[in-house]
Amino acid sequence: MAVKNDLFLRTIKGEEVERPPIWLMRQAGRILPEYREVRASVENFVALVKNPDLCAEVTVQPIDALNVDAAILFSDILVIPEAMGLDYQLVEKVGPIFPKTVQSKADVEKLISGQEAADRIDYVYHAIDRTLERLENRVPLLGFAGAPWTLFAYMIEGSGSKTFSKAKRMLYKEPELSHMLMQKITDTVICYLKTKIKHGVSLVQVFDSWAGLLDINLYKEFAIPYLKQIREELAEFPVTLFSKGAWFAYEELQALNPTVMGIDWTISAEKSRSILGNEQILQGNLDPCQLYANHESIASKTVEMLNTFGRNHIVNLGHGVYPDTPLDGVKHFVNTVLNYRY
Ligand code: CP3
Repeated sequence: MAVKNDLFLRTIKGEEVERPPIWLMRQAGRILPEYREVRASVENFVALVKNPDLCAEVTVQPIDALNVDAAILFSDILVIPEAMGLDYQLVEKVGPIFPKTVQSKADVEKLISGQEAADRIDYVYHAIDRTLERLENRVPLLGFAGAPWTLFAYMIEGSGSKTFSKAKRMLYKEPELSHMLMQKITDTVICYLKTKIKHGVSLVQVFDSWAGLLDINLYKEFAIPYLKQIREELAEFPVTLFSKGAWFAYEELQALNPTVMGIDWTISAEKSRSILGNEQILQGNLDPCQLYANHESIASKTVEMLNTFGRNHIVNLGHGVYPDTPLDGVKHFVNTVLNYRY
């Protein structure tokens, strides 16, 4: 059955559209009181991620509350490390914690990978099925996975970090072991995304949230080759590469032929266009903190961004919406885009 609001799908096909589509990274989350209510009804974050009916419910919430043009499946990138053998918890105000991490060759060898690991994430595939039932074809559903480097970073470090210096130390000190782990993660990501696609998502976004911690040499050696494998394995399927902070590798990322390139707020719309050209579909990139400002400022900065990106643009923030963003600021941002015309 055709999707009723197909603006996002027409945009990624390169068709001429009346306005850019909009969705927000982390739209299914704590900015919505109805999300916080569901979240409070379960024991912890992981229990929510493993409950397909509740995942479907919170995935659809922002479609009702904000009128955005695409739904992103509620889940987390950390389901992959867990499937590979590293359980995680989400600690309030601390972030993800992995009691067990990867430190040695024996640890890497023990990890489950590929289809066997992807099969352990069946609760996500069930969540896609439930979500598609609930969405009733109103908007397309987006799937996602963490990029190999970002998942590697959590698996070595065991938590969030400003520098991820333990993970980077592994790249510098044990390149061979690092490649071995990257390959196991990549094999799992590929099987996982293929299964998501089979279940009916319309595009998959690969989140390389910690790309900006690497320099161009490390990024070319340890990130690009694995993103390339992912891109090639998904063949013609629509893929967004969002490598946060990796403006230094935009040419190399574009050479992988992504359908969409995700742009964070640290590079201007103008500069990203000048590097990537007018034909490349770009997604982004308002600073999430702009939504703390007054409505006038939100509207004027948004219109300025839309005018600068021009066509071939999907509107988003430059990273996930922060949980304490005033909901009326978020709505003002979305409505400014809904009312815009090229
Ligand atoms: O709305 C959506 O975007 C879909 C759901 C989604 C979540 N996490 C839900 C979530 C998506 C796409 C993610 C991706 C994710 N998870 C990334 C990549 C994107 C990015 O932000 O860079 C990363 C690095 C993670 C790992 C992760 N999960 C962290 C660092 C945290 C804690 C940070 C925080 O904001 O507290 C999470 C938890 C998380 N994932 C929450 C949500 C809604 C908040 C926890 C809660 O509700 O209790």
